[in-house]
Amino acid sequence: AFFEVIHVANQQEAASIVQEKLEQDLKANTLNVLGLATGSTMIPIYKNLVESSLDFSEVTAFNLDEYIGLAPTNVNSYAYFMQEHLFSRKQFKETNIPNGNAMDLDAECARYEKQLNEHPLDIQFLGVGENGHIAFNEPGTSFNSVTHVANLTDSTLGVNSQYFDDEEEIPHTAFTMGIASIMKAKKIILLAFGEKKRPAIDALLGDTISEEWPITVLKNHPHVTVITDIK
Ligand code: GLP
Repeated sequence: AFFEVIHVANQQEAASIVQEKLEQDLKANTLNVLGLATGSTMIPIYKNLVESSLDFSEVTAFNLDEYIGLAPTNVNSYAYFMQEHLFSRKQFKETNIPNGNAMDLDAECARYEKQLNEHPLDIQFLGVGENGHIAFNEPGTSFNSVTHVANLTDSTLGVNSQYFDDEEEIPHTAFTMGIASIMKAKKIILLAFGEKKRPAIDALLGDTISEEWPITVLKNHPHVTVITDIK
């Protein structure tokens, strides 16, 4: 398996490396479907892509997750985040995010997983939560999970509450790609910056693979690049 850890001094350096990797795959015609992530980690990465000359007009994008109950017009939705940081400024062939307003939750999960299966991910970007979650796959989530409704942990709600004006508005559930959905991606690029992510990166670089640390599943993946400022 291919497992590389690239230590960077800062997020700008990470953004340049990401740009190079995407450029190579675009040139080689091996990047047709790109899995995207949200979160503060991704902001400088997307800013750099927006300012680059990379052409994504033939690339179909899939996002990892979305809060249940938030419409795309809600500033806290991931659909809004993606519009603001990437989609309004870079043209994609098609963009996909679970519909936070879907009425039938199970049907929305099934629809999204079917879309994913019809468009195999070439590259999937991942951030990581402080508790080792990937997308919204919280500790204890089965490694066999596909797209599902996740209950957010207190830890995740606490970290995310900074973005909401009113705590009552924070959704406690989200649609998320499952761990098995993510693991089907041909390549994974995981980004982690700052001391708060150290326990998660230590778990990833340690020996144990456990559902208690969802990030550790990546040790079973054939092609992973970790880009981090944590030494
Ligand atoms: C949320 C998202 C994850 C993301 C995580 C870390 O929980 N669902 O996909 O990786 O936040 O966010 P940040 O990059 O802001 O640290």
